[in-house]
Amino acid sequence: MYICVCNAVTDTDIRTAVAGGVRDLKQLRKTTGCASTCGNCKEMATEVLARALTEKSEAQGLLAMMQPA
Ligand code: FES
Repeated sequence: MYICVCNAVTDTDIRTAVAGGVRDLKQLRKTTGCASTCGNCKEMATEVLARALTEKSEAQGLLAMMQPA
């Protein structure tokens, strides 16, 4: 789904950016261009970014629990 129409950034692009190390909207803007033109997507981009960060954190927690002691 397109989150930022101006810069053709999708929710998948945001998840990919998070997987690549993006941690906040400033970094997302720099990496993808999301929310760098009209700014109408800023709220939705922030929500998707937060969700992606949470999912990544939860996945890392599960992986840590699966590591042998
Ligand atoms: S819709 Fe994202 S900057 Fe315009």
